[in-house]
Amino acid sequence: MTILHIDSSITGEASVSRQLTQSIVNGLTRFDPAAPVVRRDLASEPIAHLTLDALADSSTLDEFLAADSVVIGAPMYNFTLPTQLKAWLDRILIAGRTFRYTADGPVGLAGGRRVIIALARGGTYNAGSPAAALEHLETYLRGAFNFIGIEPEFVAADGLNIGPKQKERSVRAALGETVRLAA
Ligand SMILES: Cc1cc2nc3c(=O)[nH]c(=O)nc-3n(C[C@H](O)[C@H](O)[C@H](O)COP(=O)(O)O)c2cc1C
Repeated sequence: MTILHIDSSITGEASVSRQLTQSIVNGLTRFDPAAPVVRRDLASEPIAHLTLDALADSSTLDEFLAADSVVIGAPMYNFTLPTQLKAWLDRILIAGRTFRYTADGPVGLAGGRRVIIALARGGTYNAGSPAAALEHLETYLRGAFNFIGIEPEFVAADGLNIGPKQKERSVRAALGETVRLAA
């Protein structure tokens, strides 16, 4: 089982999403110690923005398709995903490789792998709350992965910038959830 471990937070050691992805990968490798782990840090080694020329390079897509489990750290920046992670997704959502259009609509081609996404958000965006309409991180990622035939699993640490107590509670609960997800 090959694991692809992707982080996109710009906050380094202080990052909550990085803490969560590491915990998930630790859990997965505990169950399968021989599993190769491919590491992709999109903050320290960003993928260039998409250009027509860049589409000829399928190395990011090939790496994704070679993975059985993909663990992604996704912090919320300005109500959505970091541009570093969007640049990665731009190399993954490729017609003819991960989806195709048919007379009955688009069909996902990338199913059969597990995608686990660790979200970290400063605020809270629960359904019905005033900020719910600004949630373009989880909704975007779910939609994008569904489009290519994958139902992603999420673990979320929310309200991280509300205060230290809330942050501690939220991180503890999310770390607990990572253990359950990896099992
Ligand atoms: C540039 C920047 C923009 C942010 N924008 C938002 C935002 O729109 N909504 C929100 O809830 N939190 C926002 N935050 C807070 C982060 O989501 C929060 O700090 C989270 O912990 C980031 O994940 P990380 O700890 O893995 O870096 C922002 C943080 C940064 C650094």
